[in-house]
Amino acid sequence: MSQPKNYGLNELREMFLHFFETKDHLRLPSFSLIPQNDASLLLINSGMAPMKPFFTGEQEPPRHRVTTCQKCIRTGDIENIGHTARHGTYFEMLGNFSFGDYFKNEAIHWAWEFLTSPEWVGLDPNRLYPSVFAGNETTPADDEAFRIWHEEIGIPEDRIFKFGKADNFWEHGSGPCGPCSEIYYDRGEKYGCGKPGCTVGCDCDRYMEVWNVVFSQFDNDGHDHYTELKQKNIDTGMGLERLAVVCQDVDSLFDVDTVMNITNKVTEITGASYGQSLEKDVSLRVITDHIRSASFMICDGVLPSNEGRGYVLRRLLRRAARHGKLLGVNRPFLYEVVDTVVHENEGHYPELRERQAYITKVIRVEEENFAKTIDGGMKIFDQLLAEHKEKGETTFSGADAFKLYDTYGFPIDLTIEMVEDAGMTLDRSAFDQEMQEQKTRAREARKALGDLGWAGVEFGKDIPSTEFVGYDRDTVEDAKVVALVVEDELAEELMTGVDGIVVLDKTPFYAEMGGQVADHGVITCGGAKFEVN
Ligand code: ALA
Repeated sequence: MSQPKNYGLNELREMFLHFFETKDHLRLPSFSLIPQNDASLLLINSGMAPMKPFFTGEQEPPRHRVTTCQKCIRTGDIENIGHTARHGTYFEMLGNFSFGDYFKNEAIHWAWEFLTSPEWVGLDPNRLYPSVFAGNETTPADDEAFRIWHEEIGIPEDRIFKFGKADNFWEHGSGPCGPCSEIYYDRGEKYGCGKPGCTVGCDCDRYMEVWNVVFSQFDNDGHDHYTELKQKNIDTGMGLERLAVVCQDVDSLFDVDTVMNITNKVTEITGASYGQSLEKDVSLRVITDHIRSASFMICDGVLPSNEGRGYVLRRLLRRAARHGKLLGVNRPFLYEVVDTVVHENEGHYPELRERQAYITKVIRVEEENFAKTIDGGMKIFDQLLAEHKEKGETTFSGADAFKLYDTYGFPIDLTIEMVEDAGMTLDRSAFDQEMQEQKTRAREARKALGDLGWAGVEFGKDIPSTEFVGYDRDTVEDAKVVALVVEDELAEELMTGVDGIVVLDKTPFYAEMGGQVADHGVITCGGAKFEVN
């Protein structure tokens, strides 16, 4: 079996997009990580996700053949990060898509051509294994894909694997889905688990799934009711980092050229060397992975918070900060890695350089906030753990986890991981109960403020009253900000996309009073703009 040619990650991305341009596909830039009009996803997790309306036919695509390299976030396997060769929360997905245009035949032939032709990636065909859907009660086995692989591509029958729904039926949230055909690459015995029966589908890192060709022909309403789509589509996804692992014949996606450059920066800052102990490597990889995810998420407009996407981001940053602690770094440092993330990726994502200062600032502020409490929190955690252990308990209490969350800013998932690392389990339902009670208390406190809402916030007593100049003017040029009320500390530093109150020394804005509707307008200051509602 022959060795692959060593292509760089950036080179492979360009090669893929260009290949599909030669097959009449329109190249589109990556969509934002924030889904638009799709409540079924927190973050874009695949190349197809931002294009669902093109698959369903709801919206006319710019062309019926499209190719993209899409930034993606998946946190479902977060515990595996750093332990396996192939998991990352951030990755890029190469895709070619057909919206009611070509179907199985072309999709399979082109995938094979791109991977094996010496003009393109040129992988050894003897190392590649396809799989097809084996069928279940609702959907028949994919004999058509099997036939194409066997008769047209010429793969012997015993090298084509048939798997069930878990592996060979692709769906995520609601929307377009269907049976799929995956392509695995045999990286060789040195990457295998050596267990008897280790073959395609084994959990180890020898047979790496690189490409998934989905025959999107159904629509899932989100409750597993499937209907045939009006048109048959192709949705493919190839992990760019995985393809680079294969071509560069390296251990893991952390050893791929561009990713390694980020790890090198992390080792430079932390002083920990890579490849000397498993524990340190896991921490270095977690930091590398999470800083990539965080940089891209912030670039697309996500801010750390306790809910939704913001929680995912906060969890990643705080998890990375904890791994920094494990490596002995006692100061905020993640923000210093942003420049390398930008440098390695700006060729395809120029927006990173444009927003670099902002990304760096968001990360630094989040790190500084967490740094204020992490040491105290870790100490309390160790004490609580010791107490639980002394009592012979194997369950970490929900109330303690809540204290770590509420007082020390430990995201619950971080505490769960630390508890599990210590061989215990966490009483999640008791934690949820505490959270619920806190929400109720907060709601009541808000109610106590009365109907005035924001206006019920008490300002410092020493703020002078605002001069109203709106009787004869509707603008004022030289007003001064005398007070600000914003959501939290982070928002205060960033002052972007948040609600708040700006108190001025003089104002032309008339507030709602005596039945009169309040004025609306804008306040500008340097480059900042506040909409007044
Ligand atoms: N949507 C398919 C996947 O993400 C291609 O694997």
